[in-house]
Parts: sequence; structure tokens; C-alpha cells
Amino acid sequence: MEQYIMKGGNPLVGEVVISGAKNAALGILAASIMTDEDVIIDNLPDVSDINVLLEAIAEIGAKVERMDRHTVKINGSNIHNISVDDEYIRKIRASYYFLGSLLGKYKSAQVPLPGGCNIGSRPIDQHLKGFMALGADVKIEKGAVIVHAIDLVASHIYLDLVSVGATINIMMAASMAEGQTIIENAAKEPHIVDVANFLNSMGANIKGAGTDIIRIKGVKSLHGTQYSIIPDQIEAGTFMCAAAITRGDVIVRNVIPKHLEAISAKLSEMGCEVIEFDDAVRVVGKPLQRHTNVKTLPYPGFPTDMQPQMVVTLALASGTSMVTESIFENRFKYVDELARMGSKIQVEGSVAVIDGVNKFTGAKVKAPDLRAGAALVIAGLAADGYTTVDDIEYIQRGYEKFEEKLHALGAVIERVDTDKEAAKFRFRVG
Ligand code: EPZ
Repeated sequence: MEQYIMKGGNPLVGEVVISGAKNAALGILAASIMTDEDVIIDNLPDVSDINVLLEAIAEIGAKVERMDRHTVKINGSNIHNISVDDEYIRKIRASYYFLGSLLGKYKSAQVPLPGGCNIGSRPIDQHLKGFMALGADVKIEKGAVIVHAIDLVASHIYLDLVSVGATINIMMAASMAEGQTIIENAAKEPHIVDVANFLNSMGANIKGAGTDIIRIKGVKSLHGTQYSIIPDQIEAGTFMCAAAITRGDVIVRNVIPKHLEAISAKLSEMGCEVIEFDDAVRVVGKPLQRHTNVKTLPYPGFPTDMQPQMVVTLALASGTSMVTESIFENRFKYVDELARMGSKIQVEGSVAVIDGVNKFTGAKVKAPDLRAGAALVIAGLAADGYTTVDDIEYIQRGYEKFEEKLHALGAVIERVDTDKEAAKFRFRVG
């Protein structure tokens, strides 16, 4: 099984270029099949979640032409199947976006019900509430969600809780529902805005994305487009924390600084120097970084996908910090792995109380999920000695060329898949 092996201690220094946003691309790719014309999407991140969704798009009959690792041409005119295969939802939950896009275009869709995952149960009741409000009949049979509508009719939908997935799924279906749909208590993440902009570039009529009230005037059909994905807010934040935790000096390029404000604010509170440019952010770590408190919230609050990276950074700061995870019910599993490096963190329900320590020592750890895996890697880069991170396929779902980008910043890290290769790495770096 592939793993990352690293020797910590080097401050990360230099520049890193951020890839396209995985969580924008997943919604946009699902929406791309809503027209029978060609759609060209670029700045796609070359990560396994994207590659799996492209396989699923081809599997239902759309034409998928990979023009390069970051650009794809999709044509949804020959879709012959409104039922998505089980293997795809098992590989990535975001396959459930086909519910909204196929329902919008064909008034029918069948997608296996996504299970829970390592960070919580993650129900999709709000998605289904939205589809029913638009006039669809929703059934759950044999482990699949089956949605069907004679006609989709606009509705005034109030989401019981802020949900990125439900906002995107309902937005897609409502784009082709007759009349004006209003989504209240909508999610406001940058990737919601990107999906709305993409749909509007196809001829949809969506206003208010990025606020908590989105208005969608349904249209009869959507046309082809060419679109570029926004930069990945969470990949950028991960490298910002990597600079802070290793006391380095990194310029994170190809970002939208506004999307990073919550992360920049917290790193500044810790005493890091954070300098914003038009499309870059520079983070300079300081020898003595202070404690602070964080609560994850829907955008523009501190993103839950940055919670593990912030916790590991605070675990090497001075003083006691409190981090509250208010979005998912089980997103501190990695704390037990981090303890193997010498961290002092007590988790009580949704709150982690972090007593900063002076150093980590390298250890063998396992990635429990995508973001926690990335957090354990940056912790290893700050630790004394060797760290290996197992189950790195989680990390490869959302980070393009992760070890290459870190290596270019001075990290002593390699991807290995045998103990022999790991031994050779140790021998070589000494
Ligand atoms: C998206 O997941 C992201 N995934 C997640 O990123 C991210 O953590 C999350 O939004 C929050 O920002 C993608 O975009 C592919 P939600 P999603 O619906 O849409 C509950 C990563 O690391 N809920 O906003 O599934 C849910 O259980 C991933 O890239 C319901 O109860 O998140 C959670 O507690 C991890 N009923 C909360 O709401 C519903 O119908 C927020 O979930 C929907 C959600």
C-alpha cells in the first residue's frame, strides 16, 4: 500500500501554485451533462475524485474527451442511462450530484444512496426535500434514490440547515424547472458561486449565489460553454498551514485571497505574517506562534475542511487553544494518530482542547480521511525524525501532486509503496 515517508525539520520555503477547486469541479462536471452541446472545462485538478466522476459521466453514455490532465470536453447528447452505477457512489459521494443534473434534464434519475463516511453520517434529506418541493417523486428502493417528475415546477425552498451539496443539487434541478425557484438558507461557499456561474454560462438564470438566498428562473434548455474552475480554497489553506507549522516562508500562488480570509485571520492571530497580493498569499511562520480559538462554520466562517490542518498547527503553538467542529459530528478521529507524534489534545464531543507542545517526534500514522491525511503530512514535516503516513489514497482524492509540491518547497518527502523503498529513503537522506 502506498505511503508517504518524510523526514521533518525543514522550514518550507518558496512558491507553490494551487490547482483548481475539487469541490467546485465535482458540481460543475455533474452539471456539464445538462446540455446536448459541447462543454469544455479547464483548470480541473488532476485528482482521483475528479477522474472517478469523469468515468461515471462516460459510463452513463456522455462523450468524455480528456484534452489534457486539466482540460476535458464533455457532450451529454448520447446519455442512455439515468441510473448511476453503485461503484461510483461508493468511490465518491459527489456522484449524488447526478440526481440534480439528470432530474433537471431528463426529469428522472437513479443514484445509489451514499453511505456515511469517516467524518460523519452525512444524510441527504435536504437534497430530497428540495427535489420533492420541485414536484419530483422521491423513492428509496434497494439502496438507491429514485427521483422522477412529470414536470419540474418552481418552489420556495427553505433549507433546514446550510448544506453545500443540497444547495448545488437543488440549483441544478431548479435551473430547468418552470418558474422562479427560491432557495433560502443556501450555502455561500466559493464553489457554490462557481457552479452557479458555470450554469449561467450555459444559459441558466441564477441570481444571488454566494448569499443565503438564491433565485433561479428555470429555462427550457441549456447550451454549450467553455469554463475555467476557480482555485482550490482548501488546498491553498493547507499550504498556508504547512508554511506556518514548519516556520517557513511560502508564497501560495493562483488563489483568490478573499476566499482565504478566515484562514489568514487565524494564522495572523497566531503571530504568523500573512501578506495578501492580487492572486497570491504569503505566509511567514514565526518561531513562537500563539494559541487561538477556532470554530468551524459555513462560509465565510472558518472552513471545516481546514479544521485538521489548523489543529495540527495549533498543537505546535504556545498555550491552550480550543477548536470547535460545528459541521460534522466525527471529524477529530485523526487526533489519536497525531498523539503518536507527541501532541497533547483532549477531545470532548465537538471540542478539541489543544495544549501546545514544543515539538513533535516522527511516527507511523494512518490517514483516516482526506483532510486529516493532509494534516498528518504537514505535522510530519514539522516533526523531528521520520514519519510515515499510510492510506494516502485518501489524500490523493483531493490534492494534486501533493508530495511534488511539498518537495519543491524543501520538504524531504517521498511516496513509497514498499518497506524496501522506505529503507532506501532513510538511507539516502540519513
Ligand atoms: C461538501 O460536502 C464538501 N464536499 C465537503 O468537503 C465539505 O466538508 C462540506 O461541503 C462542508 O463545507 C464536496 O463539496 C464534494 P454539507 P457536503 O451538505 O455537501 C449535514 C472535502 O474534504 N447535512 O454542507 O456533503 C451534513 O451531515 C469534503 O473536500 C444534512 O444533515 O456537506 C453535515 O453535517 C469533506 N442533511 C452538514 O449538513 C443534508 O441533506 C454540512 O453538510 C445535507 C447535509
